[in-house]
Amino acid sequence: MDLENPAAAQTSEEQAGQRLWTAVDRYISERLLPPDPALDAALEASAAAGLPAIAVSPNQGKLLHLLARIHGAHSILELGTLGGFSTIWLARALPPGGRLLTLEVNSKYAEVARANIVRAGLAELVELRTGPALEALPRLAREGLGPFDLIFIDADKQNIPEYFEWALKLSRRGSLIVTDNVVRAGALADPACADPRAEGARRFHELLAAEPRVSATTIQTVGLKGYDGFTLALVGEPS
Ligand SMILES: C[S@@+](CC[C@H](N)C(=O)[O-])C[C@H]1O[C@@H](n2cnc3c(N)ncnc32)[C@H](O)[C@@H]1O
Repeated sequence: MDLENPAAAQTSEEQAGQRLWTAVDRYISERLLPPDPALDAALEASAAAGLPAIAVSPNQGKLLHLLARIHGAHSILELGTLGGFSTIWLARALPPGGRLLTLEVNSKYAEVARANIVRAGLAELVELRTGPALEALPRLAREGLGPFDLIFIDADKQNIPEYFEWALKLSRRGSLIVTDNVVRAGALADPACADPRAEGARRFHELLAAEPRVSATTIQTVGLKGYDGFTLALVGEPS
C-alpha cells in the first residue's frame, strides 16, 4: 500500500480493513482526545495551504505527547515539521523552560508551521530551522546543542539511517529516539521491495541490530493512516 495515498490500488478486502481501522481510530479519538482548537486549526491551515495530509494521526500525536511526558523530556529534537502538528503535541509535553527544535526542508511548510505554533501559544518553546536536516544536524552538533532527551525522526524516509546516526551523536544515556513510518505496509520485511523509503527502514533496522548503544523495538500499527509502525530506541542501554 502507498502510505502517502492509502486508498490507491487497494483490494476490496484492504479497503474494508482500512474502513475498520479508520472507524476504530475515530472511536478512540472521539473518547480520549477532547476537542482541541489549536490542533484542529493547525490541520485546517495546513490543508488550506495545500500541505500533504501526512502528519501523524491525532492518536499518534497523543502517543508522542505521552512518551515525552513519561520520559520527563526537557529538550526535544524533531526532524520533519510539516505544518507543526506533531510539534505542537510534543512541545505541549515540555515543562516550563523546556525547548523543542524542529527541522523542515520546505520553507512554505515551515511558514505554515510557524503560524500554527504561534497560534498554539508555543512560540517561546519552539525553534524551527529551515533547510535539509542532513545539513542542519552537523551544525547543531558544532553549536553544542544537545544532548536531547527525546528525538523524533519523521523527515524523508530514505535517510532514516543517517538521521539515526546523527540522533545518536546528539543523545545521552537515557535519550529516547522515536522513528516513524518504518513498517511501510509490510515492505520492511520484503527485501524485494526496492522503494528507497523501505530500503531506508531496512538499513535502519540493520544499524539497530548492530548497535550496542541502544535497546530498541518496532511496533506495527494500523489506523486512519493505514498499516505502518514506529521504532522506539533507548540510548545507552544494552539490548
Ligand atoms: C511526514 S512529514 C512530517 C510530519 C510531522 N512530523 C507531523 O507529524 O506533523 C515529513 C516532513 O519532512 C520534511 N522533509 C523531507 N525531507 C527533508 C529533509 N531532507 N530535511 C528536513 N525535512 C525534510 C518534509 O518536507 C515533510 O514536511
